[in-house]
Amino acid sequence: MTDQNRNEDQNDEGDSSTAGASTTSKSFSQKSKSKPADATAVVAAATDVVDGNSTRAENNNQKLTDKSMRNLMKQMTLAEQAAASNNVYAPKYDEKAASRQEWKFWQTQPVPTIGTKIDTSNIGPIESNKLIDELRQEPYKLPDGFSWDDIDIHVDEQLQELYTFLSENYIEDDGNDFRLEYSMPFLRWALCAPGWLQKLHVGVRVTKSGKLVGFISAVPIRMRVYDKELPMVDINFLCVHKKLRLKRLSPVLIKEITRRGHLEGFFQAVYTAAPFLPGIASKCRYWHRLLNVKKSLDVKFSFLGRNVTVQRMQKLHRLPETTQVAGFREMRDADIPQAWRLLTQYLTKFDVAPVFSLDEFEYLCKNRPTIVSAFVVENDQDEITDFISYYHLPSTILNHPQYKILNSCYMYYYAASRTLLTDLVNDCLVQAHNSDFDVFNALDIMDNKEFLEKLKFGAGDGNIQYYIYNWKCPLIPAEKVALVLQ
Ligand SMILES: CC(C)(COP(=O)(O)OP(=O)(O)OC[C@H]1O[C@@H](n2cnc3c(N)ncnc32)[C@H](O)[C@@H]1OP(=O)(O)O)[C@@H](O)C(=O)NCCC(=O)NCCS
Repeated sequence: MTDQNRNEDQNDEGDSSTAGASTTSKSFSQKSKSKPADATAVVAAATDVVDGNSTRAENNNQKLTDKSMRNLMKQMTLAEQAAASNNVYAPKYDEKAASRQEWKFWQTQPVPTIGTKIDTSNIGPIESNKLIDELRQEPYKLPDGFSWDDIDIHVDEQLQELYTFLSENYIEDDGNDFRLEYSMPFLRWALCAPGWLQKLHVGVRVTKSGKLVGFISAVPIRMRVYDKELPMVDINFLCVHKKLRLKRLSPVLIKEITRRGHLEGFFQAVYTAAPFLPGIASKCRYWHRLLNVKKSLDVKFSFLGRNVTVQRMQKLHRLPETTQVAGFREMRDADIPQAWRLLTQYLTKFDVAPVFSLDEFEYLCKNRPTIVSAFVVENDQDEITDFISYYHLPSTILNHPQYKILNSCYMYYYAASRTLLTDLVNDCLVQAHNSDFDVFNALDIMDNKEFLEKLKFGAGDGNIQYYIYNWKCPLIPAEKVALVLQ
């Protein structure tokens, strides 16, 4: 069956063609606590935005219109409203609960169901690639009152709009104390990696007011899964306005980005999410290394263990003032080819890894103030022997009288050929500390388990899953994953 001759009911989700130390640290792994939400509360909240009762609405001149909200509510079927009242669509952080869920949308998509065992002889696509004329050409229909609009990241006003939308609505931690705060330069960098296409920066607006209320992006990335190399897209920044949650907008966004990806020749996608969804390729965990202990405790990012004092914690986390590895320094443009070769070689040992050209490596990994910090080790023969990097991603601290921003950075790509990985990362921590970061985060992927405990990273309290759309393969251990998505 082709896209064209399927049931064209735009809201029909049955269309399967698309798409440490002695502290405890809060999980900050894209885990947003799902608060009980009944249908009445959803209507009330939406009405608040319409009527301008909420603080956020007061801060925003453009409001959702009464009519668009009423239409949207009308379009929610009774079953969906009942489901919303039971909160069955809420993200599932418990794998057992997730395996019992109905997955009204995801069961229609080419992804293995949770718990399916796949052996290595069965690795491959679930649906085969289609020819252009077999694909659906027209966009999926949004509820009345809403329209698609591609975001032009190079127009400052549009970038600003996307930034504001995400900074008010994107990922929060479990307790809704922190929200990821992607800066404008970061967004432009992440969304415009080599091969990017504006049509894969998909926005949803309220037609009448033009207000941005939904977004999803896809950026091309060449991936290797075991011995197969494939063109994929990295799906990121899926976000629905807080007042429009649980109304089934996400499936429409996901189907639309999938449709557009197909038309560009991408039939697989990679993405990460904290909830357990069908299609898990790997289960991973964030670890957090406190750099500013006092602030991390004050803002309740981290908590003291029993019988531990603040002073003891500070002593435990103290770092040297200067880096220790001879020849460790900031990466310069001239080092890029050598660093790229090191990384390319290192990535070959993993089961899932990106395949970067030199240009892609340069774009993603060179030093960019407020976005990426990259370092190398140079030996006496002027050779680059090791490379390491981190990206900058602060969080807004919600509701704290003194602190507004938690200055966090995340382990990015690295390749150690001569220096002990633990020593290399330790110097990276020294640099991050000296650059006023409060917390250094790392997943337990690649060879990270080698240094996490030694360098006093503490395990976060939630998982993060890697997903590959339209691909079946056995569950990949975290230490065999070498893809870092921002
Ligand atoms: C994630 C988010 C877009 C989901 O929106 P929502 O209003 O809760 O859910 P909707 O009613 O639109 O859609 C529900 C469907 O989306 C699925 N879904 C929920 N979160 C998802 C995610 N992160 N990735 C993919 N699918 C997701 C649900 O499982 C459900 O499908 P199902 O019927 O198969 O169970 C919204 O909660 C949000 O913007 N959160 C903040 C940003 C964020 O966490 N983004 C995700 C980054 S991975």
